[in-house]
Amino acid sequence: MSSSTLRYERGTLVLLDQRLLPGERRELRCTTAEEAAEAIRSMAVRGAPAIGVAAAHAVAVAARAAAAGGGDPAVVRRAAEDACAVLETARPTAVNLAAAVHRMRRAVMRDAALSGGADVAEALEAEAAGLERYEVDACAAMGRHGAELLGENARVLVHCNAGSLATPGIGTALAPVYEAHARGTLDVVFVDETRPRLQGSRLTAYELGEAGIPHLVIVDSLAATLMLHGAVDAVLVGADRIAASGDVANKVGTYALAVVTAHHGLPFYVVAPTSTVDLACETGADIPIEERDPAEVLELAGERVAPAQTRALNPAFDVTPASLVTALVTERGVASPVTSSTVGGLLRRF
Ligand code: MRU
Repeated sequence: MSSSTLRYERGTLVLLDQRLLPGERRELRCTTAEEAAEAIRSMAVRGAPAIGVAAAHAVAVAARAAAAGGGDPAVVRRAAEDACAVLETARPTAVNLAAAVHRMRRAVMRDAALSGGADVAEALEAEAAGLERYEVDACAAMGRHGAELLGENARVLVHCNAGSLATPGIGTALAPVYEAHARGTLDVVFVDETRPRLQGSRLTAYELGEAGIPHLVIVDSLAATLMLHGAVDAVLVGADRIAASGDVANKVGTYALAVVTAHHGLPFYVVAPTSTVDLACETGADIPIEERDPAEVLELAGERVAPAQTRALNPAFDVTPASLVTALVTERGVASPVTSSTVGGLLRRF
């Protein structure tokens, strides 16, 4: 199985380098866990489900390399464990990364009885492939559930990139967009440019363009005015971590968007797989928020725009309270209203 965003080739993790899009499509080949961790940190691969699946494959990369160097199963297991340690902290907010690494660690322990190093590597490759398959299917299911919530001729507004570039499948928040387009019920997508890394204008516009879906890029601050003029029917966003309370961490700007959406009485849908829910975080206040380099704010396309001495704040994510979320759309169904009991109910459903 492979997507254009990432794929595993025996011993190598191949990523589409998203830092270069939309100008250039170039692949980045990672043959060590360190290279994969750096690709995640520098956002060559990004988006919560994509970095989780990339990390899982990267553990398999490390195991396969160790198996090639002799085949002692204890050495292969140690290499996989070292890879887990390198990868798990590459980015802190998206729980999918930590959860994928946790899953790979469990697989290392579960397969302790395997006697050959190559068998251990193969078991870890199968584990990562299983996670990827799950996320691909989850995207398709979220697309179906989410499209049901949108009416005819839907005009939707999206933030950041939560599409095929952010997942191994068709996306989270963009999955209902693809589904509605296929059903003929989509009118247009307003795409927040998403300061400061411009995931909207660089990535979401790129993939919607490739798919032939009508869209308009807007500056983030135009959303409220579009709503005031009745141009938007619903907002769809993804998530990087959802607390047990239903509070949602997502790309910075999501909270402001939720506030203006509520002000205009419009639905605000969060679309995310259940792998993004972290019951260890009771509320949004427990979610770690990544602080990135202030240069991302002070520069535009590598050119300094702020005065030389100016400093900046650059939290990459913010937290939207559950009370502002109309519905949480997952692969297992829809929670609405979003409360600890409806979120818990979704997780217990299977
Ligand atoms: O910093 P990024 O680009 O990794 O942030 C991505 C987002 O915030 C997405 O909305 C989120 O990961 C959901 S992606 C399916």
